[in-house]
Amino acid sequence: MAGTCVVGLQWGDEAKGKIVDLLSGEHQFAVRYNGGANAGHTVVWGNRTFRLSLLPTGVLHPHLQAVIGNGVVVYPPRFVEEVNQLIEGGVRVGDNLVISDHAHVIFPYHLEEEKLIESGGSSNAIGTTGRGIGPCYQDKVSRVYGIRVGDLLKPDFLRERLEFIVPRKNKLIHAFNPSVTPFDPQQVCDQYSAFAEKLRPHVRNTTKLLQDGLNAGKRMLFEAAQGSLLDIDHGTFPYVTSSSTLPSGIWAGSGISTRKIDRIIGVIKAYTSRVGRGPFPTELDDGPDGLGERIRKIGREYGTVTGRPRRVGWLDAVALRYTSTLADVNEVTFMLLDVLSGLDELFICTAYEYRGERTSDFPSDADDLAACKPIYERLVGWHEDISTARAWADLPSNAQRYVERVSELLQLRVSYVSVGPDRAQTIIR
Ligand code: GDP
Ligand code: IMO
Ligand code: MG
Repeated sequence: MAGTCVVGLQWGDEAKGKIVDLLSGEHQFAVRYNGGANAGHTVVWGNRTFRLSLLPTGVLHPHLQAVIGNGVVVYPPRFVEEVNQLIEGGVRVGDNLVISDHAHVIFPYHLEEEKLIESGGSSNAIGTTGRGIGPCYQDKVSRVYGIRVGDLLKPDFLRERLEFIVPRKNKLIHAFNPSVTPFDPQQVCDQYSAFAEKLRPHVRNTTKLLQDGLNAGKRMLFEAAQGSLLDIDHGTFPYVTSSSTLPSGIWAGSGISTRKIDRIIGVIKAYTSRVGRGPFPTELDDGPDGLGERIRKIGREYGTVTGRPRRVGWLDAVALRYTSTLADVNEVTFMLLDVLSGLDELFICTAYEYRGERTSDFPSDADDLAACKPIYERLVGWHEDISTARAWADLPSNAQRYVERVSELLQLRVSYVSVGPDRAQTIIR
């Protein structure tokens, strides 16, 4: 048993990046298994701030072997940009970063296809990050249009594939929007062949690399991107992302059996946030002078990837019971508790009212979830600044009570409490 998984239990942005960073010392591998550059993880070390989208957060620690697994979708321009940013920031990036030859590649036509679906205020829009994630996974699953990282390294094969795919994509895009300039297969091929040379030193059979690592007794840290409620199968479909965000995605997305994972850490933000569309029962949609806006400002709830204001609301224990069970977590971490300081009262949703009935089950249909009204438990708040707390005993009793109540409702131990973005602003329990 040699693996840990860090997984968000809400709709993403639970501060998974901070937890991954804190756990880096105990591991030798850091692995991304799902999603792509739709993720946005912020890590703060004193006056240095790092933002990672496509690369595993573990790449910040050169002692770790950072792995972009086969389940990830890779946009080469973003890969190169992120590596350059790290090098400029003084982080060594070389052999310590590898990409699976089986990971699928995002092309410019994927971004265009996503725009067609998402633009024009369409009522079918999901509110995606616009990073080409859905269309690329679509091509992976449909097979004929999918191109993998390994294919980029075979120039003749790549040219052949693009000569087949690009004209078909052009036809499709033109049918929906004739004003889009068609893509030139040669140009796309030249551009991606140039990227291929930048990627080449990092491309590996990562499944074999990980299996060999396990056999050599190395410990692996699996970094889930997005949150459990955005999981393609178990999330609030269709308002989800296109990958398995739950730990179940590890096996398919890295080649490592989930039987090897002995620690699954569920990351919970002290309230709830969501970017993009979709039901959100505990949302505080109470205008520019409301509590929602106050939490958004204090918590700096604006998307790392798109800059969009995140929707915010109270903690939802019904949703958390659902996701913590699905993710089969052993423990949870409680993040951004400091953001709730200064409130007279706090609310935790412990059940829903659905068609006049009380239920503590999370509905399986997004429309049913939208029809649920939260039933709240009220707790007394605290007014002290808790951002300098470094031990459990430093927290005001009402802050302790809030954390303990969530722990009780989920029947799970809280292993870390976070009271600020910095690494040091953490209470280990
Ligand atoms: P991720 O996508 O789950 O890794 O989370 P993000 O990095 O997108 O969002 C979390 C944000 O909260 C980042 O800007 C972090 O720097 C910040 N953050 C992390 N922990 C805390 C905390 O305890 N308090 C506050 N105020 N901010 C935090
Ligand atoms: P991290 O890893 C929050 C959301 C988008 C949209 C939906 C689908 O930082 O927690 P996509 O571009 O994936 O097709 O968009 O999923 N979304 C996220 N929300 N945090 C993320 O990642 C997200 N990644 C995707 O806003 O609603
Ligand atoms: Mg994020």
